[in-house]
Amino acid sequence: MKRITIAIDGFSSCGKSTLAKQLAHHLHYTYIDSGAMYRAIALYVIENGLVKDGKLDKADLIRVLPGIHIGFKHDDATQRSETWLDGRNVEHRIREMDVNHHVTLVSPIPEVRAKLVQLQQEMGQGGGVVMDGRDIGTVVFPKAEVKFFMTASPEVRAQRRYLELKGRGADITMEEVVSNTARRDLDDTTRAADPLVEAPDAFVIDNTHLTSSEQFDLALGEVVRTIGVVSEA
Ligand code: DC
Repeated sequence: MKRITIAIDGFSSCGKSTLAKQLAHHLHYTYIDSGAMYRAIALYVIENGLVKDGKLDKADLIRVLPGIHIGFKHDDATQRSETWLDGRNVEHRIREMDVNHHVTLVSPIPEVRAKLVQLQQEMGQGGGVVMDGRDIGTVVFPKAEVKFFMTASPEVRAQRRYLELKGRGADITMEEVVSNTARRDLDDTTRAADPLVEAPDAFVIDNTHLTSSEQFDLALGEVVRTIGVVSEA
């Protein structure tokens, strides 16, 4: 059976990664979290003192960018793919609130996007990939056979994010989560380079009132329409 490319885009905290992992598992495809790569660059700028008084030294980042190494390694124990930055596992660190705050400083920079888009295209070569992000169906894989655009109400998204961060022990208030989510939505949709837009050929899923299994069934139906019946994982 043909191994296709599945692109999943949408706002933050819309459940993109949940759906992407479910589809990848079911289809025996590779899941690639493109947001983790932008997060890794944000962690790099934090750890290397490239942000002073909330301002990023762009010229310095662009200078060191070619030497920053980002990749994924499969962890056999957790059965998950984890993010590595310059030889170190940063999977958990890149989910922390300071990285959330800094990621919008690095994600609009065209040089950062060019590097990560190229890496993503290399990782997705040959198909058999589910990749989630903001520009996957529009820029990274405009010819992806199946594209999803996910959305949910801002209240539901903020609540999900809050519970997720609290579950990881974060010291955070609901107000902080609402304001960070709104900030990232604005930055994602208004940046000049590769903004978040719905691909005209994307299948839209609003999961405000959907359970994750309802959402999975809906998405799998769309995949099956494209590639035919899929055997059980
Ligand atoms: O999906 P996420 O919340 O982990 O993404 C982290 C940030 O990276 C988010 O603010 C948007 C940005 N991003 C991007 O600009 N392009 C992508 N393909 C994926 C994420």
